[in-house]
Amino acid sequence: MTESGAPVLKHLNPLTPLVMVYCREGFEADAGQELAAKVSEILSLTGIIGAKRQLQAVTTLNSAFVMLPLASAEELMGLRKKLRLSSLIFARQLAFGFGPLNLGDARDRAAPIAAAALDTLFATAGIQYNRMVVTYPDNNDGKELTRFSKLVHPALTKALTKGGLITKNGARGLPIFNVFFYDRAKSALLTWIDPNNSSQWIDGVARLKLPPAAPSRSTLKLEEAFHVFMNKDQRDYLLRPGLTAVDLGASPGGWTYQLIKREMFVTAVDNGPMDNALMATGMVNHKEADAFHYKPKTPVDWLICDVVEQPSRVAKLAAEWIREGHCRYVILNLKLPMKQRRQEVLKCLEVIGAANENWHLAARQLYHDRREVTVFAASRLAP
Ligand SMILES: C[S@@+](CC[C@H](N)C(=O)[O-])C[C@H]1O[C@@H](n2cnc3c(N)ncnc32)[C@H](O)[C@@H]1O
Repeated sequence: MTESGAPVLKHLNPLTPLVMVYCREGFEADAGQELAAKVSEILSLTGIIGAKRQLQAVTTLNSAFVMLPLASAEELMGLRKKLRLSSLIFARQLAFGFGPLNLGDARDRAAPIAAAALDTLFATAGIQYNRMVVTYPDNNDGKELTRFSKLVHPALTKALTKGGLITKNGARGLPIFNVFFYDRAKSALLTWIDPNNSSQWIDGVARLKLPPAAPSRSTLKLEEAFHVFMNKDQRDYLLRPGLTAVDLGASPGGWTYQLIKREMFVTAVDNGPMDNALMATGMVNHKEADAFHYKPKTPVDWLICDVVEQPSRVAKLAAEWIREGHCRYVILNLKLPMKQRRQEVLKCLEVIGAANENWHLAARQLYHDRREVTVFAASRLAP
């Protein structure tokens, strides 16, 4: 240990320490700017970097991931507790580690990966992992790698377990060793995923089944939001039977469906028709009205909103509902057809946040979001 108490890190090979995030294909610039801004804020606050050094993410259009090289293993270790996935909007998953490892066309990729992994911080910092996963980007390149990943997994697990990196008892809470392949598996990043600071879906791809009775695919967006923004206890509390909700832009009813499934009462506001089976439950009150003029006569628990409108207008609407006390929890979707998407989202969050600074506020581009971002706001998260 050093005087500061940090572990002694011996950096034995030329791989660069880095943080990386998985993102939606085409959103690499947004994810990269966001990651660089967040990391430089953390590193300057902790005094690790001076104000002068500009961090720059490495982004390739349509690669579906972004990496941010760091200056040292100390920076990496300093960041690992402070950089939270929940603070990032355009990241689906967060991993820390080293790379890139260039594998070229090597027939046996397991051996060089195991050697490099055993040779880097993973070995020298004494971190052990509870299991190994192989991941790849969510794009066409990644699709071609699914079969390859399955093939390489057993040999890699064997080599890493033999080297002592993966514990045999598979203790929970330990990080997960993640080999991320890209560029047709010619390159890899050797990283770890922290189970307490990551998506429940290892590659950030939310694998949810479309319920056969759901009136639209959009239903998966709201279901994913419930999982991304709330833990199990929070879901049990915030989505309990008997609560009331207003669904703005509800037709045909994919979002309403999620609330009815949880035995909540919904006022569905839309000039379009609502699904017949949903209406037959007797728990939906359909109002053919304009979302921007409708206000409930008595406060409701939830406002959910999926209207296709300018994000600034939707943010202003949510801020009004919060300020005027019409609801206690909000989930809304911001459509982002413009170029400056990150700036637009940040402006919207500022407007919503200013309505009540004590509210919890979070935003994420979900797996089921396209050119969109989903926002969650809550007056409280527990009883
Ligand atoms: C993306 S769709 C909603 C899909 C719905 N969330 C679902 O899961 O089935 C957007 C809806 O917003 C409605 N809409 C657009 N502008 C509106 C407005 N000003 N007031 C009410 N509804 C509006 C449209 O009629 C459309 O049905």
